[in-house]
Amino acid sequence: MKHLPQWKALAAHQQSMRPVHMRDLFAADADRAGRFSLDAGPLHIDFSKHRITNDTLALLLQLARARDVEGWRTRMLAGEAINQSENRAVQHMALRGSGAPAARAEAEAVLKRMRALSTAIRQGGHRGASGKRITDMVHIGIGGSDLGPRLALDALTVPVAPGAERTSPRVHFAANADPHDLDHALRQCDPASTLVIIVSKTFGTAETMLNAGIARDWLAAHHGTDLRLHLAAVTNNTAAANAFGIAPEQVLSVPDWAGGRYSLWSAVGLSIMLGLGDTAFDQLLGGAAEIDAHFIDAPLERNAPVLLALLSVWYINFWGAQTHAVLPYAKRLDLLPDYLQQLEMESNGKRIDREGRAIDYATAPVLFGGVGTNSQHSFHQLLHQGAHLVPCDFVLIHPEDNDRSRLLAVNALAQTAALMHGDVTDADATPGNQPSTTIVLPQLSPRTLGALLALYEHKVFVEGVIWNINSFDQPGVELGKRIATGLLPALSGSAAPPGTDASTRALIARLTRPYAPKQ
Ligand code: F6P
Repeated sequence: MKHLPQWKALAAHQQSMRPVHMRDLFAADADRAGRFSLDAGPLHIDFSKHRITNDTLALLLQLARARDVEGWRTRMLAGEAINQSENRAVQHMALRGSGAPAARAEAEAVLKRMRALSTAIRQGGHRGASGKRITDMVHIGIGGSDLGPRLALDALTVPVAPGAERTSPRVHFAANADPHDLDHALRQCDPASTLVIIVSKTFGTAETMLNAGIARDWLAAHHGTDLRLHLAAVTNNTAAANAFGIAPEQVLSVPDWAGGRYSLWSAVGLSIMLGLGDTAFDQLLGGAAEIDAHFIDAPLERNAPVLLALLSVWYINFWGAQTHAVLPYAKRLDLLPDYLQQLEMESNGKRIDREGRAIDYATAPVLFGGVGTNSQHSFHQLLHQGAHLVPCDFVLIHPEDNDRSRLLAVNALAQTAALMHGDVTDADATPGNQPSTTIVLPQLSPRTLGALLALYEHKVFVEGVIWNINSFDQPGVELGKRIATGLLPALSGSAAPPGTDASTRALIARLTRPYAPKQ
């Protein structure tokens, strides 16, 4: 990568940008904010508070072209197996109506089944075995089979007023093997009026299968062996779901070509549809589809995900940034950093290229974040005065006509301004010149959330193309799973497997001794 003339040109350009302060760039150019901002679908994106000039963008775009971003986008859309290590196509856009016809048809067929089940449950046609309406749903899944639906429901569920009739089932989530997670969810439910949905693309993830067995036993203790009205699965492994005891008509399929962290648009999002209704789910897909259209059609110069990816490359590869902060100024987007952490870090946390060679440049940043204004009173100190360069994304909702809403928005703006300006009266301590992107949603709705998540999906894709890595596998995750499986018997007293290191052996010895608190 480093041998590319476009890469070398950017490295040289970075040297010339080192002494430049954004304050001066703004002072010299009255049009800067307008020139470096754009609209994509319902989103407004301001990227003027970055260490960039027209030349920077031109050089970054040359790199994007040299790395054939447009060609990879076409290959993804055509359904080529661009996830080459797993020999899979990458067609989550088909779930939103773009891409190869066969994938779109497959997506539409599952959507139809989701709508039928969701309507039956929400309108009371599908009832529990004793005739009770389904009032609660327990979604069991982890990682990509959990974070998207959890985020969407957290962000978009409108609380029911006390005393008002509930029209949607309550949705509970259980991801962790820690008993507190599932036990807490089940304690709030009555098995007579609960539907448990096991969501696992592989139907083999240890935590999910453990929780699935416990939930099945919980249902069986009440209903006996016939759980057809209370247990369903969302998976790509129908055979395993059937073997687990879930009838084929209770299984909704996740296509092979929808990666876990890109799957909330598939039947993995069934709980979103159940919790919010199918119109809201359609709007979520619609918002994402608007960004897909933008990503497919807009020239690279005005293509929001492409530009965000290029800015990321600019800081990571040419300025040495190792982190990236996502700062939603909306309590309901609390889970956005968690969701994006998986999307970015599981996709692009890679150190070999597509050809399997070790790479000598950095890839995904450590992504972290938190909701504003809370994080201002926590880690923003480091953003303003710490020694790290931390590019930030501020996500804010157009303020409503009230003081609370305005206070939230103004704080987000004040942070971006402070990061950029610094404190001229104490420039050593607070130098400013800290980059940030501001993304404005006109309101928080299924449409805008869909658009926001699709924006980040495509950004991550473009980064992966530029870094020449496969953004769609996760072999590193498998290592921990293999070691855990090997060690599990040792936690019940068997010998640790050969090759277990001394530290791990000592910890196993400690954890297998009865806990005896010192008096
Ligand atoms: O372990 C990581 C991971 O493989 C994620 O990529 C995936 O989203 C998650 O586990 C859950 O996998 P599954 O849906 O197969 O249970």
